[in-house]
Amino acid sequence: MNGTVRNAPAGGVGVVIVAAGRGERFGAATKVLAEVGGRPMIAWALDAVARTPGIGEVVVVAGAHSERAIRDVIDSGAWAYPVSIVTGGERRHDSVMAGVRVLSDRVELVLIHDAARPLVSADLFEACAASARLHGAAIVAVPVSDTIKRVRDGAIVDTIPRSELWAAQTPQGFNRKLLLDASARADPGGLDVTDEASLLERLGHPVRIVPGSPANLKMTHAEDLVIADALLRRRAVNSNVVAPR
Ligand code: CTP
Ligand code: MG
Repeated sequence: MNGTVRNAPAGGVGVVIVAAGRGERFGAATKVLAEVGGRPMIAWALDAVARTPGIGEVVVVAGAHSERAIRDVIDSGAWAYPVSIVTGGERRHDSVMAGVRVLSDRVELVLIHDAARPLVSADLFEACAASARLHGAAIVAVPVSDTIKRVRDGAIVDTIPRSELWAAQTPQGFNRKLLLDASARADPGGLDVTDEASLLERLGHPVRIVPGSPANLKMTHAEDLVIADALLRRRAVNSNVVAPR
């Protein structure tokens, strides 16, 4: 932790950046520290949060295997908000809730973000927060552009009409109490929820969509870095920021 955590003002916004995964598909447990656009991946998410107005508290959820290196990245930057670190859990949802639980009672709205999405922007955080404040739950998503097939035993059994399909991204924003309640009631137990929106869906609570950007890619496989690297360097040039290194 960077000294003390500054508490959010009443009704404030807390951000939880989950970074405790093992990067199995990527091929490196320290995925969120892989260099992209000249910086460790997680630095981009921290930077977008730092550029978002009105954030009260920021928590990074790290794995035991990555905590020290993540702490070094946090300590080496000036982030506009104090950033604390907690240890995550076995599944993504365990990590999310580990972060949510350390936010103070003054936080009304939680924005959850994957450290593995370095192309996120402050605009997306703001739009997600605005919608979640209005509706209780809102996630960034994009319309699916591929045709999606249901496949069994190597053969197509169905083509799912694309018009209603959206791919969920992060940030995902929730009223903090609503999320705590949904997590307790849904008791994910053996169930591995890949996002928190699905918890609310299961309880019948509406979750709004905030149209995002197809460029807000998740770094899942090592090849994803190549695209993100190009996009981040172009972004730096376009905004007249000198691309790091
Ligand atoms: N995550 C986490 N705790 C877990 C699992 C995932 O904090 N127990 C985080 C990851 O660090 C990542 C985000 O959730 O920022 C999205 O997960 P994913 O892309 O699946 O990353 P990994 O779980 O690390 O990758 P893999 O599933 O390939 O092992
Ligand atoms: Mg995973």
